[in-house]
Amino acid sequence: MIDLTTEYLGLKLKSPLVVSSSPLTDSPEKVQRLEEAGAAAVILPSIFEEQLTLESNALDRDLSRGTESFAEALSYFPAYESYRQGHDTYLNHIRRAKSVAGIPVLASLNGATAGGWVKFAKEIEQAGADALELNTYSLPTDPRVTSDQLEEGIIELVRQVKAITKIPIAVKLSPQYTSIPNLAARLDKIGTNALVLFNRFYQPDFDIENLNVTPTLTLSRPEELLLRLHWTAILYGDLSADIAVTGGVHSAEDVLKAIMAGGQVAMMASALLIHGVSHLATIQSDLLRWMEEHEYQSIRQMRGSLSRRSVPDTSPFERGNYIKTLSSYTLRKTA
Ligand SMILES: Cc1cc2nc3c(=O)[nH]c(=O)nc-3n(C[C@H](O)[C@H](O)[C@H](O)COP(=O)(O)O)c2cc1C
Repeated sequence: MIDLTTEYLGLKLKSPLVVSSSPLTDSPEKVQRLEEAGAAAVILPSIFEEQLTLESNALDRDLSRGTESFAEALSYFPAYESYRQGHDTYLNHIRRAKSVAGIPVLASLNGATAGGWVKFAKEIEQAGADALELNTYSLPTDPRVTSDQLEEGIIELVRQVKAITKIPIAVKLSPQYTSIPNLAARLDKIGTNALVLFNRFYQPDFDIENLNVTPTLTLSRPEELLLRLHWTAILYGDLSADIAVTGGVHSAEDVLKAIMAGGQVAMMASALLIHGVSHLATIQSDLLRWMEEHEYQSIRQMRGSLSRRSVPDTSPFERGNYIKTLSSYTLRKTA
């Protein structure tokens, strides 16, 4: 009997197949369907820092307008209604997802700076989320902000969340940091329970006919996995934090690569949006077949086997690979 179980964030999972934060998990019915198809855990869509900050600022403004009675005032402040909507809807979603799911349900907070909005993490915990993923997507456009300030902002954010919650915290990172190992080590040091590698960068496209810059969301391609494998393989073994791989996982082979690089779990969104939720079951049976054919008994047994620590030749992970790759390219005949 092949053992697909794994541990992530201290949670026991029946397999490494996790559904990442996306519209795939935006209702309890969908969470239930994902579980039936084989998902070992799900991450709910994110609630955003801007949403919480705007809403709570509006609430503060409204509540400070000389009201005598708090309860009475609430009834005619429209901002309070919209505040409660985003906020309460999210907490209700956690509660309802938890009530139908037999698998762990993780919530997701999306923000890049520490601040008052972080207290929402406590409510997420109280609503019953098994863990919290912090999506730290930021886009520095101010030339006065240094990379160090930016990274300090993330560290401070995680520190604040860790200080008010007891549930495990995963930090979803972008690949665009000058030194990923340094940031990873600093996050590890303050008790981050997992790093989720990596966020995708959504680049707006240019509409040259109408002179518009338009937001675009393209689903991932399997080639995007290579960047994640590279950094997972480099970080594996250096951290107490778990590593989760997200971005470009489309097949059982991709899941195997993510585990062999050193991931505890492999997360999927695009592949399920393209092929449907039943793709999870296909991946699971392909995974089992491959493991049987190659005589692997467990996921644990293969974890990290292609990490930088395990391979005899580490040059593919280092600068030497850049030189070798460029110089070994042979020109193909062009027509
Ligand atoms: C439509 C869509 C919505 C998403 N929403 C979120 C979100 O709310 N929070 C988040 O952290 N990631 C979000 N993501 C990113 C995914 O969780 C995932 O990290 C990313 O798509 C890479 O994985 P994939 O290659 O399996 O799609 C979203 C992705 C898609 C395609």
